Order: sequence, then structure tokens, then C-alpha cells
Amino acid sequence: MLADRHDALIAAARAARERAHAPYSRFAVGAAVLDEQGRIHAGCNVENAAYPQGWCAETSALAAMVMAGGRRALAVAVCGEAPEPVTPCGGCRQKLREFAADDCPVLTCDPNAVTARYTLGQLLPASFGPHHLPPGGERDLPPDPAAPASP
Ligand code: THU
Repeated sequence: MLADRHDALIAAARAARERAHAPYSRFAVGAAVLDEQGRIHAGCNVENAAYPQGWCAETSALAAMVMAGGRRALAVAVCGEAPEPVTPCGGCRQKLREFAADDCPVLTCDPNAVTARYTLGQLLPASFGPHHLPPGGERDLPPDPAAPASP
């Protein structure tokens, strides 16, 4: 199921990149996530004249997933044009980690080719996550997708 959705995921990231609002950096990025229901959610970077208020394509895609009721990211694609593969920034790696397991594929592409393939665990090893937090009655969390196996 995963592999045959990868082409659609990449196509969605490429299409999302076309929507980028990036007048300041002129660096357009698109991202797409595959959720646990097999649906694809896409987003672009949205910059702002107050520069720090802009956000990344991966953040937009995750927000679309959550808004649609998705709770797990099973695969991610990021599309950007640069001499090196455009990987998620550090903050977005952490945001993805909230919804994805260490083995979640993160595919990078540009408009013409797939440029690299990682797992989230490679991009964010030894990550901090919900399993670090003390059990709390007020939290209503699904199982941590990237928690270490219990001994
Ligand atoms: N950007 C993303 O949207 N995703 C990434 O993976 C890397 C960077 C955006 C943020 C900013 O709008 C522009 O690219 C330049 O950093």
C-alpha cells in the first residue's frame, strides 16, 4: 500500500509547491503526508512580511492532515529545488515525529526527480516525544508512534 502511494505523494508535494507563498525567500516548497486512512494531505510554505511568522510546507501539510481527522503520518514527501535534496528543517522533523514512527519514509524530490530517501529516524535520531512525559490524566494521546519498544 505504501509504495504504490509514493508516486501520488510526490505528485501532491510537487503540486503543493506551486501554491507556495514565498515572496521573501523565493524558495518554494511543497510537502505531502500519507495518513493512516490512505489519504494524502498537502501543504506549501507560507511566508510573512514579519519574517519569523512564516511557516514551512511540512507544517501546512500536517495541519491539513489533522484538520481532516488523520492521526498518523505513514510517509512524507517534500519538494524543493536546490543543489542538495531539500529535507525538512529541524522544527518540522520534530513536528512530523509527533505523528510518525522512526521508519516513516521521508522522500525528497524536485519538480523532475526523486532526490533522496530517508527515514524520519535517520533525520531525527534519539528524538524527544510523548513517551518522555510523565503519565498525565488530562492528556488524551494515542500510542507514541516512535516510542522505544518496552523492555
Ligand atoms: N522551507 C520549507 O517549507 N520546508 C523545508 O523543508 C525547508 C524550508 C521553507 C521555509 C521558508 O519559507 C523557505 O523554505 C526558505 O527557508
